[in-house]
Amino acid sequence: MNHKDKFSNIGRSLHWVVAIGFITLSLAGIYMANFEAWALYPVHKSVGILLLVVILLRVCWRLWCGWPGSAVEHTRAERVLATVVHWFLLLGTVLMPVSGMLYSGASGHGFGIFGWQLVAENLDPKTPGQVLPYSDFWSGLSEQVHEVAGYMLMVAVMLHLAAALKHQWVARQRMLLQVNNSGSC
Ligand code: HEM
Ligand code: HEM
Repeated sequence: MNHKDKFSNIGRSLHWVVAIGFITLSLAGIYMANFEAWALYPVHKSVGILLLVVILLRVCWRLWCGWPGSAVEHTRAERVLATVVHWFLLLGTVLMPVSGMLYSGASGHGFGIFGWQLVAENLDPKTPGQVLPYSDFWSGLSEQVHEVAGYMLMVAVMLHLAAALKHQWVARQRMLLQVNNSGSC
């Protein structure tokens, strides 16, 4: 295996860890928020924070290596759409865990990683079992961002998946399990 292949494999592995983690967390987040599955909250937060480490590694990797080129011919409109969706996905992967942490912290619920507390709950001394927000403004804003961006990113992921499937089957490119890396890592 030459140097370039090794780098391509790192980029590809980072893509798949983030993709699987991101899709799982989105589905779990929608489920827990709509069905009040309280037991899932600490797991969602813990996995989301751990995934942020891989996400930041991946962003550095992308900035360092540049974007992969495409193996198929595209119209100008397709290229623009692909660039917009890729940037939105890349920035969205950072925005989601950051807004989640901001919301959990500012709302007074706190967060941590599997029992290791990073931001403590702000317990209400007058009402046992209830928490008080540290900041109503940041709590409200970040909750909206986490929810709206979460749904927008699901749509972007579907567009992205449709493009990957188009490459795979219509253009007969072997790209589903193999991110094309021509010209970069
Ligand atoms: C089952 C789901 C997925 C499949 C099959 C898939 C497949 C691919 C393929 C084939 C490429 C390279 C070719 C191209 O589209 O230009 C790619 C690139 C990319 N994917 Fe995905 N992907 C999936 C999920 C995701 C998710 C969930 C995210 C982030 C939320 C994501 C973010 C990206 C980004 C930012 C790129 C641009 C190039 C790079 O940074 O490596 N993908 N994906
Ligand atoms: C890539 C990482 C993450 C993704 C993709 C993600 C995705 C989601 C989605 C789609 C929802 C449902 C939104 C709604 O319907 O209200 C949600 C809810 C939630 N997420 Fe995340 N999340 C991530 C990371 C985090 C992190 C790191 C935290 C906190 C440390 C967090 C805290 C929460 C909380 C507290 C809710 C429930 C909101 C409510 O009950 O209204 N998330 N998440």
